[in-house]
Parts: sequence; C-alpha cells; structure tokens
Amino acid sequence: MTVVIDGKQTAKEIRAELREEAQKLGVVPGLCVILVGDDPASAIYVRNKARACKDAGFYSSTIKLPAETAREELLACIREQNADPQIHGILVQLPLPKHLDEQEILAAIDPAKDADGFLPVSAGKLLLGQKAPVACTPQGCLELLKRSGVPMEGAHAVVVGRSNIVGKPMALLLLRENCTVTVCHSRTKNLPEICRTADILVAAIGKPRFIKGDWIKPGAAVIDVGINRLEDGSITGDVDYEAASQVAGWITPVPGGVGPMTIAMLLKNTLEAAKRG
Ligand code: GUN
Repeated sequence: MTVVIDGKQTAKEIRAELREEAQKLGVVPGLCVILVGDDPASAIYVRNKARACKDAGFYSSTIKLPAETAREELLACIREQNADPQIHGILVQLPLPKHLDEQEILAAIDPAKDADGFLPVSAGKLLLGQKAPVACTPQGCLELLKRSGVPMEGAHAVVVGRSNIVGKPMALLLLRENCTVTVCHSRTKNLPEICRTADILVAAIGKPRFIKGDWIKPGAAVIDVGINRLEDGSITGDVDYEAASQVAGWITPVPGGVGPMTIAMLLKNTLEAAKRG
C-alpha cells in the first residue's frame, strides 16, 4: 500500500496551527515581500504569499518596484523594512533583474528578519546545527516526512539536486534527523543505482519525470520537489509518478505535495521571528 502524502491538507493544518499560535502571541507577525520587475510567475507567488498571511491573521505588505530599480534604491527599501517594527520577516522574491547582484541584495536584509533562510548567516547556522530560519521548501519536505511518520533514524536518504535553496539545506536537515545522506547531482555516476538504495528519495532536479519507477526501492518515501510545466500547460514533478507510486511506500503528488508546504513554512519562519521580537 502506497501512502499519497497530501501536502495541501497538511499545509492547511499547519497554517491553522500558526494562526492559533499567532493569536496567543499578542503580537501580529508581519511579513514584507519585495518584488522587483514584472515576472508573471513571481507575481502569482507573491500574491499567494500575501493571501496566506492574511488568512493566518498576519500583517503583510507587498512592495512592487519596477524592473529598472537601481541597486541603491532597492538597498534603501530593504533598510527601511529592517527598521520597521511591524515587520518581522523580509523576503526579496527571486529571481531579480539581471543588473542586480542577488547576494549583495540579500545581504542587506537584517539576519533577524530572514524569512527565506537564504542569508549566509542562516545557512551557516544550519550547517553548525544552531537554531536559525531554514529555507522554506526543504523545511516543508522535512515536515511532510515527520508528519507522515516516515522512519528517518539511520535511513539512507538520497537527495538529487545540490542547489543552495533546496538540495544542500535538505541534506543538512536529513543529517540532523540522523539519516545517512547521499547528495547526487548532474555529474553523479550510476544515479539509478544510488536511487535504488534510498529509503528516502528527495528529487529536486527541475526535469520532468526524470526519476523512473524502477529507480525506487520498494517501500521508500519519495518526495518530489519538481514543478515542471509541460507543453500542454499541465504541471508535473521530477518523478514519474504513475510508475513510482506502484513501488513507493510514501509519495508526494505534483501538484498538491511539496508546493503548498513552502508558503506554510514561510509563515512559520515569520512567526518564529515575531516570537524572538
Ligand atoms: N522564487 C521562487 N521561490 C522562491 C522562494 O522561496 N523565495 C524567494 N525569495 N524567491 C523565490
């Protein structure tokens, strides 16, 4: 029997928990989302983030700046948010227009307000096992594994993908849960063989249906981070779901798996920042 992990429902439950926690806190957690330019996908993400904030009883402000915004102007905007006591979390939506250096811009955010966990200080703390905001997507994957009761202690976890936003923090989180972790990437030799040894397989590659059904160990937990749009407009993950779901013990669908968890974890990071004051 394969358990299909319902990320949409889990995210809904977490958002309700966060709403309750925020009410008890006596402080309204505030998130500022800064969007530079007019990338249509980013505009949708930003709108969803603002809506989720409102639903959870959080304060949210969205700052939309034109694509040609100068570096100094954006830095000044971030500094203003750093100083605003109503704002506990700041998120600069990526990607930024090409003339802006992402690392320089992100570095202007007060680490105490790092809603995304993308700052070097936050990433460093994760590496050292210290408390810090963690990137929302891998944090959401971990939450799905925990809430589904997937055994992690001593399990072999294979993470396919080594991005700073998903693959690397995912590997560190799984290590913290006492998994034995293997990180694979585009240059990995014998990828199918390595995947077949995974008790937990996290796919974060960005290639539609790249992971085949016969790469899955029977009973494994398969977490699919991919969101790939096909020519017919439909969305598919990095895993061949039809085939993999015949073999896996647990599997996340796309859509409705990892995706909804990302925003829930963003709210969690904002609430945690508000708790720290
Ligand atoms: N662009 C796509 N996903 C994300 C995210 O999680 N955070 C930010 N800041 N930008 C993104």
